[in-house]
Amino acid sequence: MKVLSVVGARPQLVKLAPVSDDMSNTDHTHVLVHTGQHYDAEMSDVFFSGLGIPDPDVHLGVGSGSHGAQTGSMLTALEPIIDSQRPDWVLVYGDTNSTIAATLAAVKLHVPVAHLEAGLRSFNRRMPEEHNRVLTDHAADLLLAPTETAMKHLATEGLAERSVLVGDVMVDVCLKVRDAVRASGEAPHDLPTGIDPSEPYLVATLHRPDNTDDRDRLAALVEALAALPVPVALLAHPRLVNRAAAHGIELQQGAIQVGRPLPYGGLIAATVHSRGVVTDSGGLQKEAFLLGRPCTTIRPETEWVETLEGGWNVLAPDPHLMGDTWAGVATRPAPQTDIGAPYGVGKAAQTTIDVLASRCS
Ligand code: UD1
Repeated sequence: MKVLSVVGARPQLVKLAPVSDDMSNTDHTHVLVHTGQHYDAEMSDVFFSGLGIPDPDVHLGVGSGSHGAQTGSMLTALEPIIDSQRPDWVLVYGDTNSTIAATLAAVKLHVPVAHLEAGLRSFNRRMPEEHNRVLTDHAADLLLAPTETAMKHLATEGLAERSVLVGDVMVDVCLKVRDAVRASGEAPHDLPTGIDPSEPYLVATLHRPDNTDDRDRLAALVEALAALPVPVALLAHPRLVNRAAAHGIELQQGAIQVGRPLPYGGLIAATVHSRGVVTDSGGLQKEAFLLGRPCTTIRPETEWVETLEGGWNVLAPDPHLMGDTWAGVATRPAPQTDIGAPYGVGKAAQTTIDVLASRCS
């Protein structure tokens, strides 16, 4: 079997890691294409080196742009690659512009497409990711779902026959890296200057357009983070840095200590040792849950609804409305409830490969 994986953005590199690792233990051929959607070393290269992913076979170097321009450039660049490679499967990951571009390029060439992390829904049509995932699911030939909830969404949309529950590949990588962090016994390093890892601190990230693009909203969120009673390690995505500078908002204020995005191992170490997480990232919500840290999500909804069970994750979109309670939520202790295994047990990549191989024509 020949599988051609298309990735481009940071969270996709995390999902790729266990697939790439498990593929390397088989006779299958794995071709890796990086669109170049993310290109800063700390958004891309460190994930390849840190997670042991081989260098991409093809790097398209597409870079940033408006949604249409970026997706269009990827589509144009991917078409000849997929056409010349003619894999048994094009494997796409998650919900970014790289995902929808690869899906469109492949289906129009009649090359089968499998979508890993299919069936997630926020039902929020303001999110670019929601369009990407719905359109990808309806175009793809095989839908590899991480959860029962995702399977239900796919069935509701008439896609049950193309859907298979494989579990969540992020569990594979998160637990493996957590175990390595624990075994090393090391305190987290590369935290922002001003964060003492032996004292309580929160890990925070903020990058979604709905939180960063409007000046008043971003200013209110930064103010709320700055007012927290615990130091906040704000691992700033380039989009946040750019938007804050454009809006004239100082990120380094009050409790906030600004740092750069961390490599995956660094992020897991920082989260394990933290008091909790405040974020608008889908991946980090789930990592906090898997690592047993309470998460406060700065969004009105989440695709990862299982994290809400038992109060591990709390949706707190508007610090203005919640006043002092927002700080109380963000600094609450970890619940004592058992999380169960709603995302599987860490074998999703192997299951994915088995399902792909069994459906090779
Ligand atoms: C993308 C995904 C989002 C995912 C996020 C993870 C889409 C629509 N969104 O959002 O689902 O959660 O990745 O990070 O695909 N930039 C840099 N260097 C980089 C990459 C980006 O400076 O290496 C800056 C550029 O100014 C760019 C902006 O960040 O315009 C946004 O990058 P982009 O890839 O368009 O979207 P993300 O916000 O990263």
